[in-house]
Amino acid sequence: MCGIVGYIGHRDAFPIVIKGLQRLEYRGYDSAGIALYDGNKINLSKTKGKVEDLKNKAKEISLEGSIGIGHTRWATHGVPNDVNSHPHYSNSGNLVIIHNGIIENYEAIKQELTKRGYVFKSDTDTEVLVNLIEEVKKTEDVKLGKAVQIALNQVVGAYAIAVFDVEKPDEIVVAKLGSPLAIGIGNNEFFIASDASPFIEFTNNAVYLEDEEMAIIRLGKEIKLRKIKDDSVAYPRILELQMNLEEIEKGGYDHFMLKEIYEQPRAIKDTYRGRLLADQGLVKMSGIEQNMEKFINANRIIIVACGTSWHAGLVAEYIFEDLARIPVEVEYASEFRYRNPVITDKDVLIAISQSGETADTLAAIKLAKEKGAFVFGVCNVVGSSIARETDAGAYTHAGPEIGVASTKAFTTQITVLTLMALRLAKAKGEFSETKYREYLTELETIPSKVEKSLESNALIEIIADVYKDSTNCLYLGRGYNFPVALEGALKLKEISYIHAEGYPAAEMKHGPIALIDEHMPVFVIATKKGHYEKVVSNIQEIKSRKGKIIAIVTEGDEQVRDLADHVIEVPETLESLTPLLTTIPLQLLSYHIAVMRGCNVDQPRNLAKSVTVE
Ligand code: M6R
Repeated sequence: MCGIVGYIGHRDAFPIVIKGLQRLEYRGYDSAGIALYDGNKINLSKTKGKVEDLKNKAKEISLEGSIGIGHTRWATHGVPNDVNSHPHYSNSGNLVIIHNGIIENYEAIKQELTKRGYVFKSDTDTEVLVNLIEEVKKTEDVKLGKAVQIALNQVVGAYAIAVFDVEKPDEIVVAKLGSPLAIGIGNNEFFIASDASPFIEFTNNAVYLEDEEMAIIRLGKEIKLRKIKDDSVAYPRILELQMNLEEIEKGGYDHFMLKEIYEQPRAIKDTYRGRLLADQGLVKMSGIEQNMEKFINANRIIIVACGTSWHAGLVAEYIFEDLARIPVEVEYASEFRYRNPVITDKDVLIAISQSGETADTLAAIKLAKEKGAFVFGVCNVVGSSIARETDAGAYTHAGPEIGVASTKAFTTQITVLTLMALRLAKAKGEFSETKYREYLTELETIPSKVEKSLESNALIEIIADVYKDSTNCLYLGRGYNFPVALEGALKLKEISYIHAEGYPAAEMKHGPIALIDEHMPVFVIATKKGHYEKVVSNIQEIKSRKGKIIAIVTEGDEQVRDLADHVIEVPETLESLTPLLTTIPLQLLSYHIAVMRGCNVDQPRNLAKSVTVE
């Protein structure tokens, strides 16, 4: 769960690698490093801290050279410090490597290499790998590419690596298993990165390596792809990228998270564009049309995901059961894969993932496929591992989400899942034409209603100031808005480090109510549609125990206004669509509280955007 960048061509490698690393910092940001080849020798600089720290530290080395590799780290083996940072040299100093992933059997390999006289400076699995490559190169008397291929057949784990060898100074060797790796193809120059964002201003053409593929990237030559297992030739599939530079920059906002919150009206519209044809009374999704029988005849739908995507899955459970009348189970991918689940070929598994790289979700997919289930992916990142591993799927079109806290990914996932449920409901005849059209028309109004919800930002900032020093918070919601309560709590804890828990409002009396006193802020989603009266009773219970109530209500609500300490209004909509609106003020609240507490909103401590470790 790190970011890797490389360049080989005719430009200065340093600025390209540094800028690329900054774009990949969402993948990990506890240390960073760079190695440049100046035509004669490798110059390497690395440090604990962010890419900005590296930029300063690197001034102590020569920054010359048009070949370079760099790394931004999320520590797995070894604490974040200068020594454990990548790149890592081999013992001879001839090879340097950057690595995203985990080598599980590194201990055994390390022992063997130690017996052969190798010494290790760091605690990392990566330093073991680069020395294994060196050992293979020496003992087998082979060139770098072949040595990498042989060495990788001896390791167990996951990797995206780039290796440079001073003895082959016109090439970089890359390989992938489990962690993503893209190669940008320019005009007599190549870019290497964990995703395409580091090279988007240079080229739109990219090759995404498949698992167990490696490439020898040589100046002045075409890329050569090989299968790691048997060294057979593989053929590169060159994709034309759609991403643009503006999408991956802050565009005048203080933080990516705020930008991404404000992008939601556009992102939701982009997600339903071409799929939701409200005037014709149609939902068109090719992934569903082509597999309609599988969905309609499914015994059940199993949804697997992690974090925010899991919360979107919980919302989907309500939508699919309510609208399409298909039984749904929602599972944490990490639990599902390890509990010997009963899966049959009559099951449909939907995997939800913004990044499309989450290791547990990927493993759950593989397990379900082995058992014969049909697997459908809902991903944001085009060409990601999950998008490729699934039998079919539907992309959210949120655009790159850089802030570690998911915002637009959540609402666009719900949009896709709603479209799917509506299409299936129609196919199963669960809806009258009038009701169906009502849903479609209402879904089309959601972007403007999200815009309206965003207008509460100034009020939310005032409320954030009142509660910014809280140590605990509760989030309550019912029905469709129970997952929104969970998501609100997750947003607050991950970026402001305030302890927060979400509950179904009615569960409060089974325990959490004991926590309520005058110091406890309780964020309650109390929109008109959806168990309103019951939630109002819950609010009364909180009030009589002196808890502070911040309620998300439907525009014009007077009843809750009289009870609550603060109310934030969202426009009225159909109950099943309320999560798309009620989540907005909760995102903004977390954002402002985190900013007021001086937290690093886009890169919260200990986290990374893409969790490619189990
Ligand atoms: O990329 P994915 O959607 O698979 O990621 C899943 C979680 O890691 C992610 O949602 C995480 O919980 C976010 N930081 C939440 O904001």
